Amino acid sequence: RTRVAALISGRGSNMAALLAAAAAPAYPAEIALVLSNRADAAGLATAAARGVPTAVVESRAFGRDRAGFEAAMQAVLDRHDIGILALAGFMRVLTEGFVARWDGRMINIHPSLLPAFPGLDTHARALAAGVRLHGCTVHLVSAGVDEGPILAQAAVPVLPGDDEATLAARVLAEEHRLYPAALAWLAAGRVAVAGGVARVDGVVGAQGCLA
Ligand code: GAR
Repeated sequence: RTRVAALISGRGSNMAALLAAAAAPAYPAEIALVLSNRADAAGLATAAARGVPTAVVESRAFGRDRAGFEAAMQAVLDRHDIGILALAGFMRVLTEGFVARWDGRMINIHPSLLPAFPGLDTHARALAAGVRLHGCTVHLVSAGVDEGPILAQAAVPVLPGDDEATLAARVLAEEHRLYPAALAWLAAGRVAVAGGVARVDGVVGAQGCLA
């Protein structure tokens, strides 16, 4: 099973969803490490309670030295023999060098239907834009923020009376279904990228889509 590190900055509910999925013997990946850039991330306790090794590399300690921060992370990842990175609410922008080093082996979950609403405050922005469909995206990480070949998306309706909290909760439930599925595809070697577009082998129909 491929050894995966989940990278978190906070609550870690997506990381917990990956842990739950990886508990199944047939799941093709093992969450071998939970790495946080903040010592106060609540998800660290969740991971430790499930017996998963945790590590903290405080990004704040490195100030603007992003390469230094990433070198410290890389040293931890090397020690744990990690093969795939799953960003799970990891709120740091990574350098081109780090992204290139993990090309094809680093995925992210983002709370919008990319390429709509990259960046922060996605639910408030979806409400302000009046979109009728919103959702989440799992994508391979490339150099731009919230960019890279899309592996999977799930859509939810925006309902009359929604506020940021109700919409976020509806999307989050889909995130917790989508991320384990997409990570399994990548870990099983079923993802191929051509011309910036990802194809998932053996997924039929509207591939990589949960409605
Ligand atoms: C999730 O909604 C995730 O999609 C989002 O942060 C939240 C983390 O929650 N990620 C981003 O916005 C990245 N651009 P979690 O810590 O409970 O998984």
